[in-house]
Amino acid sequence: TQARISIDREAVVAPIDRRIFGSFVEHLGRCVYDGIYEPGHRTANEDGFRMDVVELVRELGTTTIRYPGGNFVSGFRWEDSVGPREQRPVRRDLAWHSLETNQVGVDEFSRWLKLTGSELMMAVNLGTRGIEAALDLLEYCNHPSGTALSDQRIANGTVEPHDIRMWCLGNEMDGPWQTGYMTADDYGKLAARTAQAMKAADRTLELVVCGSSGSSMPTFGDWERTVLEHSYEHVDFISCHAYYQERDGDLASYLASSLEMQYFIETVVSTADHVGNKLRSKKKIKLSFDEWNIWYLDEHRESDEVNDEWRYAPRQLEDVYSVADAVVLGNLLITLLKNHDRVASASLAQLVNVIAPIMTEPGGDAWRQTTFFPFSVTSRLAKGAIIKPRIEVGTYETKVHGDAPLVDSVVATDAEGSAVFLVNRSQSESISVTIEVAELGVSSIDEAVTLWDDDVYAKNTLADQNRVGLKALEGASLADGLLTVTLPPVSWSALALS
Ligand code: AHR
Repeated sequence: TQARISIDREAVVAPIDRRIFGSFVEHLGRCVYDGIYEPGHRTANEDGFRMDVVELVRELGTTTIRYPGGNFVSGFRWEDSVGPREQRPVRRDLAWHSLETNQVGVDEFSRWLKLTGSELMMAVNLGTRGIEAALDLLEYCNHPSGTALSDQRIANGTVEPHDIRMWCLGNEMDGPWQTGYMTADDYGKLAARTAQAMKAADRTLELVVCGSSGSSMPTFGDWERTVLEHSYEHVDFISCHAYYQERDGDLASYLASSLEMQYFIETVVSTADHVGNKLRSKKKIKLSFDEWNIWYLDEHRESDEVNDEWRYAPRQLEDVYSVADAVVLGNLLITLLKNHDRVASASLAQLVNVIAPIMTEPGGDAWRQTTFFPFSVTSRLAKGAIIKPRIEVGTYETKVHGDAPLVDSVVATDAEGSAVFLVNRSQSESISVTIEVAELGVSSIDEAVTLWDDDVYAKNTLADQNRVGLKALEGASLADGLLTVTLPPVSWSALALS
């Protein structure tokens, strides 16, 4: 099987906004406690943060990290999580039926972010709280000094303001599982008033209003329309949350999951633009894909990890990812980049232990899941601007998405060089791809890696942490403006060119 890809240097989607390589840390399961934070661990720093995890996060290449939830945020009292640690209360977290000790809060998390080189994206609680708590948190975090709450932060040891730029106005407020969930009308009004007040404090903030919790929600589309009708002029982003999984052994459909993501993006863009045009607004709303990943949610529902005990840092949502999962994740990232003109920010949900690219064992090792690789390589190699290439390739039939192209690809380019990212969705055939790179002005291949395996279900585990990793993409050649590569079946690949 063969494919041909042509690249038009003028077909720029958008300059790369590094926030597209964001992630998400929620107070959930072992993401924070026994994940990034484990005071007794041999690599822990003076704050109790595991430095082996910090090293892996740096290698992963995350930029903006959403915090502290997720469903957790809808019951969160931020005041509990600041000040002397020994005085912080233990609370019940209803979202995940766990005990929250508040030993990590906004000040500690900001210090952790500095170690990783990432920036904070904060969510406010619009489930059980509202405008006043959101304004107080904003003052505590961002006001330099000389007010009650900024001085409280300074007294707590953080002199410089956190200066958080992006704020989420609640989380998944359309979901019946959300503490304090609302109708689109009620939420739209509350989000608009909260946004208006937060911008009265600082008009340069970037605010994210909640879109649907997923494109399969019964209110999908209508929710976005109603919420934006109330809040359009006050907000900058609308959120999208999307999780994918293989169902009923249908790998063919699963490998084409990014077609569903494309539909999701187009629907939200057209809905937002419909509202904007109706309001005769000059502004375009951007999309914040602030939760996206593979999540075997159906299996979690069946095993029902939430039980009647109130546990501290229980093992929840600890999916172990396969090669096929990593290929799908790489393809989802290609899709986000192809739509980067509207999807300006994204957060891989989540970062450590909970549906995560990084796993840890208490008192033991930290290791990379299969999904770590496409994310870290894309974050490292994608520089400059995104170009959407033209792909000529055959299709295969899927039960869920109709005919799906066998190959998908995106290109990034800047003055120093370019990068090409590719996926082969075929389960049986290698595909030889010819890529016209003349317009990129490149003549050498600096790096060519692929993620594939004879066993598409191979995984990395505590016992076998390096079973799956990147391999050299053998046989790639570049001459006379033509790059030729052979993509193994069910693979994700990347090439750096200069
Ligand atoms: O990421 C796990 C959960 O998924 C989040 O808490 C919630 O926002 C979503 O439903």
